[in-house]
Amino acid sequence: MANLGSPRYCFFCAFQLLLLIQAKVLCYQYKVGDLEAWGIPTSANPQVYAKWSKYHTFKIGDSLLFLYPPSQDSVIQVTEQSYNSCNLKDPILYLNNGNSLFNITKPGEFFFTSGEPGHCEKKQKLYISVLSGNGSASAPSYGPSALPETTSSPSYPTVFGTIPQPPSSSPTLGFPIFITAVIASATWAIINGMM
Ligand SMILES: *[C@@H]1O[C@H](CO)[C@@H](O)[C@H](O)[C@H]1NC(C)=O
Ligand SMILES: *[C@@H]1O[C@H](CO)[C@@H](O)[C@H](O)[C@H]1NC(C)=O
Repeated sequence: MANLGSPRYCFFCAFQLLLLIQAKVLCYQYKVGDLEAWGIPTSANPQVYAKWSKYHTFKIGDSLLFLYPPSQDSVIQVTEQSYNSCNLKDPILYLNNGNSLFNITKPGEFFFTSGEPGHCEKKQKLYISVLSGNGSASAPSYGPSALPETTSSPSYPTVFGTIPQPPSSSPTLGFPIFITAVIASATWAIINGMM
């Protein structure tokens, strides 16, 4: 007979909740290269970082965990040019605490290497591409290409005709979106608070 108040049942629930939370965390936090330490690739696997990023898909909200002995290494986020030329000067971001979490907050391309001289040349560098929220990485390029179709459509002039109206209707449209955003961020805060 299942007694819902029994300690065993509570333990089971807690355990399941823990698994759920853990699965969520593992899902969003990537340990760079699946390696125990961010460092110069071994001669057996010189392309480890390039391969790793190729087989992973990163989204907004995910994070990259770089683990390394802080006395021996560091992480810098650089521009594409600096990434290619191994220029360590003027990085976008410099992390050296040995347990560096890079939070992905926007779509685009991100380039990382080590802040230690000589490491970048030995392929200790990582490049990732992050898709935008709705999954279309090339969203900006769709705009101009979609425009000619709209222009050829007879309904195009009426699109212009309706433009003066949105200002009066947009506040009511914007309100639910705002509420949704508040609820979403509150939910996120609660989830974060639990962990
Ligand atoms: C990423 O987020 C974590 C936790 O919110 C924070 O501790 C860390 O400093 C952030 N990383 C960066 C580079 O801002
Ligand atoms: C979603 O895609 C559209 C184009 O299809 C783009 O204009 C818009 O910016 C994208 N939204 C986000 C949140 O990236």
